[in-house]
Amino acid sequence: MVRPSSVILKITMAVSGILLVLFLYVHMIGNLKIFLGAVDFDHYAHWLRALGTPLLPNMWYLWIQRAVLTLAVLAHIYTAAVLTIRAKKARPVKYAHRPKVQGSYAARTMRWGGVIVLLFIVFHILDLTTGNLNPVGDHEHPYANVVADFAPERWYVTLFYALAIISVGFHLWHGIFSAARTLGQQTMKGQRRAKAIALALSLVLVVGYLSVPFAVLVGLVD
Ligand code: HEM
Repeated sequence: MVRPSSVILKITMAVSGILLVLFLYVHMIGNLKIFLGAVDFDHYAHWLRALGTPLLPNMWYLWIQRAVLTLAVLAHIYTAAVLTIRAKKARPVKYAHRPKVQGSYAARTMRWGGVIVLLFIVFHILDLTTGNLNPVGDHEHPYANVVADFAPERWYVTLFYALAIISVGFHLWHGIFSAARTLGQQTMKGQRRAKAIALALSLVLVVGYLSVPFAVLVGLVD
């Protein structure tokens, strides 16, 4: 059986992670178009589906993106699992006194955070892409779907979105920090810089995503 080296696995993990982060930023910026009103937001969603035409038939770009994102998620989970198992095997005997504090909160929640995000993606696709779990569920009117989704009486949906977005934030905080530490200067100053970059990038993402359900909740978007 082929046994990929840990370096190949780490590179695969980083590349798939970068692809997912890029998607997250583009998607977050697209979501902010909700503040421009229904016409602009719906126009943007329709444009997404036609992206790549006339070179590609309608919807093809979207399907290619879906395939790439699915592959990236699978590669990210697979490499994380194999690298974790290898790291455990490298230390067959546990520490006699396991230290209570093991890295930051973000580092310790990588696995559970990843599971929450995965469950959220399944829910989110059934909610806002296929519309099955959305009170409006109209493919032609994504603005109406979003507004219906975060109505005050559906507070539990908003809460789940908020939990998932904060989990994405923690996941990115640690992920970007690890990547920046690897790529940047291996000094205390370099580490501090990596930490600051990771925190700023994840905060921007969390605030950007949270602003949409929050705006619907307080009636700024209706
Ligand atoms: C409040 C936050 C969010 C809002 C308002 C939102 C909104 C939307 C909407 C309206 C669509 C459907 C677009 C269409 O009609 O084609 C969509 C699709 C999608 N969103 Fe989100 N989203 C949010 C957060 C997230 C997060 C945090 C992730 C990832 C962790 C994510 C991943 C996706 C994916 C994978 C799709 C499917 C794209 C496709 O059709 O292939 N979204 N989102």
